[in-house]
Amino acid sequence: MRHLMSPLDFTTKELEDLFILAGDIEHNPARYAHACDGRILATCFYEPSTRTRLSFESAMTRLGGRIIGFSDAASSSATKGESVSDTIRVISCYADICAMRHPKEGAPMVAAEKSRIPVINAGDGGHQHPTQTLTDLLTIRSLKGRLDNLTIGLCGDLKFGRTVHSLIGALVRYANIRFIFISPEELRVPDYITDMLRSRNIPYEEVIRLEKVMPQLDLLYMTRVQKERFFNEEDYVRLKDFYILDTAKMSLAREDMLVLHPLPRVNEISVEVDSDPRAAYFRQARYGVYVRMALILTLLGIQVP
Ligand code: NCD
Repeated sequence: MRHLMSPLDFTTKELEDLFILAGDIEHNPARYAHACDGRILATCFYEPSTRTRLSFESAMTRLGGRIIGFSDAASSSATKGESVSDTIRVISCYADICAMRHPKEGAPMVAAEKSRIPVINAGDGGHQHPTQTLTDLLTIRSLKGRLDNLTIGLCGDLKFGRTVHSLIGALVRYANIRFIFISPEELRVPDYITDMLRSRNIPYEEVIRLEKVMPQLDLLYMTRVQKERFFNEEDYVRLKDFYILDTAKMSLAREDMLVLHPLPRVNEISVEVDSDPRAAYFRQARYGVYVRMALILTLLGIQVP
């Protein structure tokens, strides 16, 4: 039995197979419409989510399966003091596969150790968000045609943004990747990431001004300042509008640059950018469903003839 805790749980060859499957699902949805008939996905969300939970639910429903779960720790037995390990043992009796989001780093891993069904980490604190990374990689691969030879700007909250941490970890496995980290001083990417990049000789730069680096980028990955992970409101208020991507800044970018964002967006991308053909964040949300469909099939070991 396999779980998904980090994008690195899959080799690049396994990821490639997953993306090929996701591409087939995108183009031949009818072939997969009953692939999970009679199967149940549990979504155990101890932290708010719209897209991740609903995209899992959409994915399982489009495969013909069913959903059970909770979307708020307050409505689960966690409020009575039940441990994640106990909850997953019980969920293992009710469902065939589980997607879990938790505010504590490592909680889905603790669950996986006790689980009798595959567990997917749907985001653990500021740590990892592997299915968002699979979504990001599929989007890049589909729209740019490659996952190597890219200069990627990551902008915003690089300290607390788990999607950023997961994505960097996954991209370093492809050839000729260069990172430009764009953040205020207080929200710089954690040292463990820059240490890892240095040890692997992967080029990166850290800058504060977005305008300056715009012309170099193949991809701009915008992120929200992670309000819920701040220790005080004052810092959040000071930093929340540090970056606002607008049409003026987009005019500095290459014709074929893509803008990605895991969503939800707050103010960091002005709505005027939405009609720019380079804005790919809503298309990205659609790829999130295909890749989760492919992931569910893969972890359940279901092959569609
Ligand atoms: C992200 C998350 O939850 O980390 N959202 C998502 O899953 N698409 C990004 C965010 O909340 O900023």
